[in-house]
Amino acid sequence: MKMLIVFASKTGVTKDVAHALKNKLEGDVTVEEMRFVNDRMLELYDYVVLGAPVYMGHALSKMRSFVKRYQNVLLEKRLAFFFVGGDGESDLEELLKGYGKLFSGKGEFMVHMGGEFRFEKMGFFSRFIVKMVTKSKAKKTGQSGLPMLNAESLESLAESLNGVLAETRVEPDATQAL
Ligand SMILES: Cc1cc2nc3c(=O)[nH]c(=O)nc-3n(C[C@H](O)[C@H](O)[C@H](O)COP(=O)(O)O)c2cc1C
Repeated sequence: MKMLIVFASKTGVTKDVAHALKNKLEGDVTVEEMRFVNDRMLELYDYVVLGAPVYMGHALSKMRSFVKRYQNVLLEKRLAFFFVGGDGESDLEELLKGYGKLFSGKGEFMVHMGGEFRFEKMGFFSRFIVKMVTKSKAKKTGQSGLPMLNAESLESLAESLNGVLAETRVEPDATQAL
């Protein structure tokens, strides 16, 4: 079983999550940024995990374009999805719809990882919008309004994917018995 984690990221949060996920997996797992992945590379893997951040209510548009461009090869694979965003309550099914209706029900696992605001990596306009939204949220809820990554979600996805990797792993003892 060869597994590929493909991610897109603007300020580096999804990139960090993708690498943290890979570090928790035991097996033949590669992590690669979306812009270095094409259909020929996808063909080499049995299982693809797609990780994208959420911007303005949707998975990052570059990732949506990537999925649509390579949908034929992706739909032949076993798939899992994770999303990273400041609003931990985003509807996962709605986010998945952004990849096209053919992907509905195709994810063996779908996880929301929470998110972070890396203000230092944002442009002026993004920083301005996020600060406004955060302030108004804090006023309404009385809490800081700053999102956090969810370590439990990461653990849970890693556990599920390790289950998949273990399904097909041939243990050394088993080989000897053959
Ligand atoms: C302009 C802007 C819009 C955003 N819109 C959303 C949103 O609609 N929903 C959400 O959950 N998070 C939203 N976020 C938060 C990002 O998803 C979050 O910061 C995420 O951790 C960024 O991941 P990245 O560094 O991999 O790009 C937004 C952030 C910015 C700067």
